[in-house]
Amino acid sequence: MFLEKMLQSQGFGSRKHCQQLIKNGAVAIQNEVITEPKFKLNLQNLEFSVHGQSFQYREKVYIALNKPINYECSHQATHHFSVFDLFDDVLMNRGMQCVGRLDQDTTGLLLLTDDGQFLQALTHPKKHVPKVYQMQTADPVTDEQIQQLEQGVELRNEKGIFSATDVIRLDEFKLQMTVHQGVYHQVKRMLAAVGNKVENLHRAQIGQLKLTDLAEGEWIYLTENQANAAKNLIADQI
Ligand code: URA
Repeated sequence: MFLEKMLQSQGFGSRKHCQQLIKNGAVAIQNEVITEPKFKLNLQNLEFSVHGQSFQYREKVYIALNKPINYECSHQATHHFSVFDLFDDVLMNRGMQCVGRLDQDTTGLLLLTDDGQFLQALTHPKKHVPKVYQMQTADPVTDEQIQQLEQGVELRNEKGIFSATDVIRLDEFKLQMTVHQGVYHQVKRMLAAVGNKVENLHRAQIGQLKLTDLAEGEWIYLTENQANAAKNLIADQI
């Protein structure tokens, strides 16, 4: 691939802008400044720098974010910050999207990508990717509520029954459960349907991809193995 095209693919702007960056001596590979836009590259394990900042070539990006509270999953956030504010322009120029959504007041694991197939694989309604949520509740969690959640509840304006698996009372006011669909406000509505109320909500896991060491607002690139694990529901941790 030509250097100018590689830079464009990584979010450094239009082909013309990338050509200009190269001609101006802003781009280096293995510490050697390259000023020829049509310089031919081997993309394998490619590292490069632009204005002295190092980058790794990534065909696609897969990102795991521990979403903080008060961030919306939309580009044009109206009342809060946007999760996209947490990423620089170079990444945003690649057209990253959220894989599913979390509410503004929900924290936890959110995946973002510019890989349309990955997005489709994880959000397709028929795929039923399990997602583990932990929540604080307004009222004590009862055995009856756990049973009802496992058996399934109806949600207004939604077809079918919505049930959870692995419903675990972590303490009197704390519940963990796994849901397999992803309709609007699903967890909050399911808790309301059994007569309780979610006070705060955290997503701990998508597929077998678990959030472990990321602080709120922190994010990492997933390795190809982790991205495949998320897609194919194979165990992995981040
Ligand atoms: N269910 C909800 O109610 N909110 C979320 O953010 C995610 C699942």
